[in-house]
Amino acid sequence: MTQHTSSTLVVPQVSAIPRHVAIIMDGNGRWASKRFMPRVAGHSEGLGAVRKIVQECRRLGVEYLTVFAFSSENWRRPPEEVGFLMKLFLKSLKSEVSRLADNDISLRLIGDLSRFDSAIQEMVKFSEEKTATCKGLTFTIAANYGGRWDILEAMRKCLAANPGLKSEEVTEELLQPYFSMAYAPEPDLFIRTGGEQRVSNFLLWQLAYTELYFTDTLWPDFDAAELHKAFDWFSQRERRFGRTSAQLASEPMSDAV
Ligand code: IPE
Ligand code: IPE
Ligand code: MG
Repeated sequence: MTQHTSSTLVVPQVSAIPRHVAIIMDGNGRWASKRFMPRVAGHSEGLGAVRKIVQECRRLGVEYLTVFAFSSENWRRPPEEVGFLMKLFLKSLKSEVSRLADNDISLRLIGDLSRFDSAIQEMVKFSEEKTATCKGLTFTIAANYGGRWDILEAMRKCLAANPGLKSEEVTEELLQPYFSMAYAPEPDLFIRTGGEQRVSNFLLWQLAYTELYFTDTLWPDFDAAELHKAFDWFSQRERRFGRTSAQLASEPMSDAV
């Protein structure tokens, strides 16, 4: 497995196109309500946006795309909506997996899948295996995911793997392999649609130095043109990682610690 360095330990390489894009796909319910449709119609419509954005990221050479599909707090929604989302999740895994494989896209799931029913768990396993050797883009879906859960899980797994670990021996390097996204570099660009400016317990640890982009566009309306706007904004950011502008100007390609 590739070891990915931490933005707080080493200054990462930066590029005009983000290597890793993480998205909170928000606003499905409001998209539907505006049209006097039931909220769940917005979730179905949102699937079309997912397809478009996966394709466009693949085309633009993004290496990792991670989307938040269902948070650990979304169980608090009405049971009918949760049930609909589960059915839609299973149905879309079934209908999309071949298309992903044909486009050389590997699918990964992060989150506590144990709470999903066995049909979903089996389909996730099948989809991950079917696309495991694909190299074009790694598409990760966060489902029953919570950033705090991820940090706690990493700590628990780290302690289990290192019996008798002393507190002073706990380092970022030691913890890093146990995060659910240990296979990916930290996100360069975070996008949240739907107008809210919050992180809602998404990738808390991994977003340490991510550029945060918020748009009022509702997720079902988010398309390639909207993605380009976010990428244009991203390309204008000065990613200092703690350093000064003058330092960046004097060593533009620096990857100094
Ligand atoms: C995001 O859209 C999708 C999920 C959380 C599953 P919402 O359902 O949160 O839509 P709004 O925010 O109510 O409009
Ligand atoms: C965040 O959206 C989770 C997903 C998009 C899956 P929410 O709509 O659930 O977030 P809050 O509750 O408004 O913060
Ligand atoms: Mg919402």
